[in-house]
Amino acid sequence: MATRVVQHVSEELPSRYVLPEQHRHGGIPAGEAMPEPLPVVDIGRLPATDEASKLRVALESWGLFLATNHGIEVSLLDALMDGAREFFHQPLETRHKFSNLVDGTPRHKGYGCLLSQDQTIDWFDRVHLAIHPEDERDLSSWPHFFRDAMLEYAGKSKKTRDRVLRAMATLLELEEDHFVSKFTDRAITFAAVNYYPPCPAPDRVFGFRPHSDGRLITFLLADKDIGGLQVRKDGRWFNVPTIPGSLLVFVGDSLEIMSNGAFKAAVHRVVTNPVKDRISVAMFFGVDGDTVLEPAPALLDETRPARYRKMRTKEYIQGILELYGRYERMIETMKI
Ligand code: OGA
Ligand code: NI
Repeated sequence: MATRVVQHVSEELPSRYVLPEQHRHGGIPAGEAMPEPLPVVDIGRLPATDEASKLRVALESWGLFLATNHGIEVSLLDALMDGAREFFHQPLETRHKFSNLVDGTPRHKGYGCLLSQDQTIDWFDRVHLAIHPEDERDLSSWPHFFRDAMLEYAGKSKKTRDRVLRAMATLLELEEDHFVSKFTDRAITFAAVNYYPPCPAPDRVFGFRPHSDGRLITFLLADKDIGGLQVRKDGRWFNVPTIPGSLLVFVGDSLEIMSNGAFKAAVHRVVTNPVKDRISVAMFFGVDGDTVLEPAPALLDETRPARYRKMRTKEYIQGILELYGRYERMIETMKI
């Protein structure tokens, strides 16, 4: 259970957060500036060809882009971030009312951590919310600080998701609805509201260790002007910029597999800030647990063999959680 509060921050780091030697990043893990700007995609202009070609560059190189003109009011995004910050600034007793523990066992919903007691954990607190299927939503357990804004954002972000995924399918010369049609009424969408307290030892902890997200795509709203989010390319770490009012869109493992590697899942991490706290809100859009993850058959022929093996989503996600504790990536085990 993540129970840190700002007062915990001192030179004496709680040992559960301190990285084992072999996973340290050596010195202060400042990222580099990107060699070329991160692509900015005007969602309202998709599928116009010039906009779609920016999308292609983003998906093939970074697995990440900034989405502007996405159709969601900036005032709503601000209200969501403000509510999230307010929640994390509540005393621990208040936050614990939304705990993810049921009879001592963590669930995938609520405030807290999913790793077991013997694993090193990252320097952030998180609230998990089940957004979809609707019968899993359990609104009464959502912190009221951001509940209404989150609900409205969840509804509006679906339209943006579909627009982006249609443009992606078109880039692969698949049917426009190839990805969108996978969002059945049992498809899984999760939100995570993340809080990174200040930490004076960014060389000994991770804000969030290197990983890629498991589902198709992630929308991330990140605190302005604080930084800390980095993306990996060719073995180097680059600082991810933000534009106020925009969304960061990440390719996840499921989409990398379905596109047979044409689109690359973004490997990213967060390093801590010694003085400022940081908030982010992630929305993970995935297919349902029984759907088999596999490269789209229309992308395969004798000259283009499958580059990933098949697996049910449920088992894939379980695998991610197991390997995460060992700082490894599940998608590496899928490559043929
Ligand atoms: C995540 C994630 C990054 C951030 O929640 O999967 O990578 O900036 N978050 O909080
Ligand atoms: Ni992530």
